[in-house]
Amino acid sequence: MTRSEETVVSLENVGVEFSNASLFQTLRGDREVVKAVDDVSLDIRENEVIVLVGESGCGKTTFGKTAVGLQRPTSGSVKYRGQDIWDAKDGNGDVTIPFPEIRKSLQIIHQDPGSSLNPNRTILNSLSVPLKEQYPQIGTEEREERIYKLLEYVGMKPASSYASRYPHQLSGGEQQRIALGRALLMNPDLILADEAVSALDVSLRIEMMDLMHDLQREFNTSYLNISHDLANAYYFAEKVGGRIGIMYLGKLVEIGPAEEIIRNPRHPYTRVLRWATPVMDPDSITEESDEPPIRQIDIPDPKNPPSGCRFHTRCPEARETCVNRVPQLTQTGETIESGVACFRRDERDEYWQSDEIA
Ligand SMILES: Nc1ncnc2c1ncn2[C@@H]1O[C@H](COP(=O)(O)OP(=O)(O)O)[C@@H](O)[C@H]1O
Ligand code: SF4
Ligand SMILES: [Mg+2]
Repeated sequence: MTRSEETVVSLENVGVEFSNASLFQTLRGDREVVKAVDDVSLDIRENEVIVLVGESGCGKTTFGKTAVGLQRPTSGSVKYRGQDIWDAKDGNGDVTIPFPEIRKSLQIIHQDPGSSLNPNRTILNSLSVPLKEQYPQIGTEEREERIYKLLEYVGMKPASSYASRYPHQLSGGEQQRIALGRALLMNPDLILADEAVSALDVSLRIEMMDLMHDLQREFNTSYLNISHDLANAYYFAEKVGGRIGIMYLGKLVEIGPAEEIIRNPRHPYTRVLRWATPVMDPDSITEESDEPPIRQIDIPDPKNPPSGCRFHTRCPEARETCVNRVPQLTQTGETIESGVACFRRDERDEYWQSDEIA
């Protein structure tokens, strides 16, 4: 795969806060605020594959939705090919790319494809709806032709037999193929696949990931995948020279080429995930040990995250300075491809003079 340097989606210092409050709580003044995503920047380029990995609740879905314009950020900016997505939506300033075009270019496949397909519609009807909306000029015949061709692309042959079925007449794997097909019908630049293969059993999961790779070449799309499983992330990203990003409590703590993340994890949290996934390639782990490289197993409450480096309550390398200062994601390689947010990356950082946390 050759990757051009053209950026499709650019997220700059993005933050997303949710406030969960009943009227009563608001009146009492104890509004709970969750910073689901906190100051994350990322460029997603044409034909690029990025997989975000992290524990449940760390903000992967929220970040993904923000990247495809389904979630408005509370701070920072999200641009599609240079156009601020929410300025386009609100009609602010000179809009060079209209919002509907942006929406069409950024597609999503959900974890549970069954729920995103209308149970009362045949597959043909389900796929016709978005095509009619986006390409009203196309006639019925051409529309059906496109849908049949697409069904064949996603491995559902004979297409006519699948087209006339209802979602409940398809297996989970087949439903997921339909969801991928529906996303591709829009000719998107980027597909967000949120735990799209997690529910499938192993062989189907591999099949689906291979299919996504094949179709990427065919359709020239980028993927932003989300997974809680580092082994899956590695399989999906490594094959096509993609990157893996590691999230922890709303922060992007490390990002880099899949191979580097697995062979040479730099952030202490990435090492924890790597340690917990020994099945991938037992030889490659640099610091082999039976003890988990972590101090505390409990994940802190995202509503009340630790100060400073959010990982400091669990990090075996934490020092006093980590309690108060927030490490920034800084470039580690020669290109902007990789970065790590940990004071240990800088040999001149005051971290090295700071006292260890017992
Ligand atoms: N719509 C919402 N309203 C309030 N809180 C939310 C909402 N969506 C997500 N959150 C909270 O934001 C945090 C991150 O959630 P999410 O992005 O779903 O994480 P992940 O996908 O990594 O499991 C969690 O604490 C979650 O409870
Ligand atoms: S900044 Fe400190 S607490 Fe955070 S990962 Fe690095 S060493 Fe650990
Ligand atoms: Mg999620």
